[in-house]
Amino acid sequence: MHPQTTGRWTPAALSADLAASTAMPASLATKTIALWRSASGRLTASDDRCPHRGMRLSHGFVRGEALSCIYHGWRYGQDGQCLRIPAHPDLTPPKTIRVETYPVIEQDGIIWIASGEDAGTPPPLNGLMPLRSLSVSAGIAAIELATEAKADADGLLKPSDDAFCLLLAPQGEAATLIHVLVSADATPPQRIAVSRQAETLRRKAEAASNQGAGS
Ligand code: FES
Repeated sequence: MHPQTTGRWTPAALSADLAASTAMPASLATKTIALWRSASGRLTASDDRCPHRGMRLSHGFVRGEALSCIYHGWRYGQDGQCLRIPAHPDLTPPKTIRVETYPVIEQDGIIWIASGEDAGTPPPLNGLMPLRSLSVSAGIAAIELATEAKADADGLLKPSDDAFCLLLAPQGEAATLIHVLVSADATPPQRIAVSRQAETLRRKAEAASNQGAGS
């Protein structure tokens, strides 16, 4: 996740933020993804562009085990293959009509998407669990400046003297999705305190970014 040590897995979203039969946008460092969960709970990550006229598939709707584009209703399966074109109900869509899909797994309450081959497994979080996610208008450098700590090769950053850990997912040059991790046995008051600390760090990182340390 660190710009110099980019991992093959991106922590794209929290499992709790994607209910069954819903779709959402997600980002890898260089592209936008349509991430959706079928009625039975299976995850799919695909390019976020419908091959028909380019509508974002993350705006689509999930029915059963397929995702339909919100524009003209072309339906896609979990392998990315177009299954149905409503305007031509008797047509079997050719194999060439498909969207690219990416490996996606859930681990430790986080949805991970792989952007390359031979991704291995995502890093273990060692007893930490996600509390919330924050979108930050700042790059990794500004976040490191704000926290006075360095992200490791897996994108994990431990602020000094804080009771939490950050898992960073770059969203381009000057934007980062931060997953705030806490100990599994953190109490509700501790979780609230951590959430506030994370908000403070976001403001500091964005201020640092605005002063030229954002990327
Ligand atoms: S743009 Fe997706 S079905 Fe037409």
